[in-house]
Amino acid sequence: MPKLLLSLLSMKKASYTVTAALPYANGPLHLGHVAGVYLPADIFVRFLRMNEHDVVFICGSDEHGAAITLRAKKDGLTPKDIVDKYHGIIKGAFEKFDISFDIFHRTSSELHHETSSDFFKKLHDQGKFIEETSEQYYDEEYQQFLADRYITGDCPKCQSTGAYGDQCEKCGSDLSPTDLINPKSTLSGKTPVLRSTSHWYLPMDQHETWLKKWIQNGILDGVQQHDPKLWRNQVIGQCMSWINGGLRPRAMTRDLDWGVKVPLPNADGKVLYVWLDAPIGYISATKQWALDNGKDWRNYWTKAEAGDRKLVHFIGKDNIVFHAIIFPILLKDHGDFILPDNVPAYEFLNLEGDKFSTSRNWAVWLHEYLEAYPDKIDELKYVLSAIAPESKDSEFTWKEFQTRVNSELADIYGNFVNRTLVLTHKYYEGIVPSPLAFSAEDQAVFEAIEQAPRRISELMYAYKIREAQTEMMQIARIGNKYLADQEPWKVNKTDPERVQTILYVALQITANLQIATQIFLPATAQKLGKMLNAENLSWSSFGSSTLLAAGHQIGEAHILFTKIEDELVQSEVEKLQASNQLKSPYPAMKDLINFDDFSKMDLRMGKILSAEKVEKADKLLKLQVHTGIDERTIVSGIAAHYSPEEIIGKTVLVLLNLAPRKIRGIESQGMILMAENAEGALSFLASEKDFGEGPTVA
Ligand code: MF3
Ligand code: ZN
Repeated sequence: MPKLLLSLLSMKKASYTVTAALPYANGPLHLGHVAGVYLPADIFVRFLRMNEHDVVFICGSDEHGAAITLRAKKDGLTPKDIVDKYHGIIKGAFEKFDISFDIFHRTSSELHHETSSDFFKKLHDQGKFIEETSEQYYDEEYQQFLADRYITGDCPKCQSTGAYGDQCEKCGSDLSPTDLINPKSTLSGKTPVLRSTSHWYLPMDQHETWLKKWIQNGILDGVQQHDPKLWRNQVIGQCMSWINGGLRPRAMTRDLDWGVKVPLPNADGKVLYVWLDAPIGYISATKQWALDNGKDWRNYWTKAEAGDRKLVHFIGKDNIVFHAIIFPILLKDHGDFILPDNVPAYEFLNLEGDKFSTSRNWAVWLHEYLEAYPDKIDELKYVLSAIAPESKDSEFTWKEFQTRVNSELADIYGNFVNRTLVLTHKYYEGIVPSPLAFSAEDQAVFEAIEQAPRRISELMYAYKIREAQTEMMQIARIGNKYLADQEPWKVNKTDPERVQTILYVALQITANLQIATQIFLPATAQKLGKMLNAENLSWSSFGSSTLLAAGHQIGEAHILFTKIEDELVQSEVEKLQASNQLKSPYPAMKDLINFDDFSKMDLRMGKILSAEKVEKADKLLKLQVHTGIDERTIVSGIAAHYSPEEIIGKTVLVLLNLAPRKIRGIESQGMILMAENAEGALSFLASEKDFGEGPTVA
């Protein structure tokens, strides 16, 4: 091919299908979700649209799987009730927050069931699965097989408790229910039994070779598909550690009654694994959007029609394996589809020194923020982008929120814009003045602004969205400093002609700032566009020093950002702490135990017959206790709180079957249970009247 034609072809703008992880419709969104998936995805897409890339932006709710059914059970509702409720809340919050999805679909839709069912059928018919019957855990009380979140136990890799049947959240290992040590049903709390059942497995182990080449080098079937330098280190690192650890076949079906039915004979009571159906949700959502908008969905997904379109999945780091390993295997096995060009994954956002936690209500919920501060949407976007957990975990605090809004948005961005517009009105009745000769400082400012579009573009194409926003802010900083240095309000007294040039320059900076802002803070950009009476400034003119011609009439000036008061910070922090146990003087609740664990303890009321101090031990008392069935010695660390005389004759709560222990040479056969208050004082759990000894009942 002739060189010129080649370079013309390569100048053709890439087209994109951008997805954001489908949130589970089992609860509302918090700021961690927003900062680490939806907001950066939205900024990226706004950038692409402004740069005239053909792009579709896809999302929807993930409405199947144990995340939904277990939540329904907990709330005493049906899965359908749960997904309807949270689909509504999540969709509403995204709309208010102005996340610009082309569609927010749902995986419970008929079109999705049909699409994912066909996808599975095609893979099955091509022999891509292995059907296998094996012994799986079963809860006899609930008559249900236990997979994924239905079963917990100790992790075989890191030994931590509470690992799920599919994954240990502590160490990130991928697990099967039968790997768990000490497995327990989430439904009944009981130890499950084994029963045989058959499932369709994806032999992931057979895909290791091509996956390695594709992930590390971007090469698939000998063709360069993507630039691995643009993939985040953590993503490649996590994938390689999975692959090098050896991939194992993974079941693609489940014994459940909520989900997409397995489209095969003799598969009653079986549905698709949620991590098979959910990512196909990106495809079914695109189909729905195409139907609604007179488009052909194939142009966005199929190798034949989409060609070199880039598929980009924005996700959180806990989703890496599903988007960079499992879904690509499925797409490739299917045969018709393009594979992702990039999988920008985000680390986690913490909140005020602790992890977001739904159960402890340690969270800032997006829908609640929007209700409380409907006029501070861009303020939240700005701060979340500034602290986005792009390369490592980061933290949101209300104090930092206040500082960034006040000293960056209000004092720099807002101050610069306000001064420029107010002075233009004051000196020139809102008409852009004609510049005279440009000084060296003016030229330097123009040169800096001219660089901005290239810098922002490079960062955006490299998925460095946080830094790209810093470049937007840099324009405001340049402007603010320019005005502070030039002091037009002083110069006006001595050299009013020079002020024409200063304000002309400041207005050009403002107009450039407006363009950059369209990507990050769309509501602010709109206000500023109105204020400049220039609402259609385009990316292609970004960097220019002649955006607003002399003679152009600008609009009214308004304050863009108001400061955040200390009261807001204080009340938000107090609200959080009120609902949290960790920050109270009391320790947090320990991990849940099930009834079996509890009933192993033999708790009884026992009567203290005698008590004496243990020699050379200030804290210890040696007690003789009558338990109803025997008399035994118990050594207790309560001497600082009770004298022997005080406690003789008391009926107290005793843990009887604690394994005996020698303390200072005395064998202690049990433990007296005490309560401790916030000041560290101890109190017996004792009967008020002489009640007698005996076992506890529950
Ligand atoms: N619902 C999942 C989560 O919140 C994400 C699903 S992404 C998809 O972790 F690709 F599977 F849809
Ligand atoms: Zn683990």
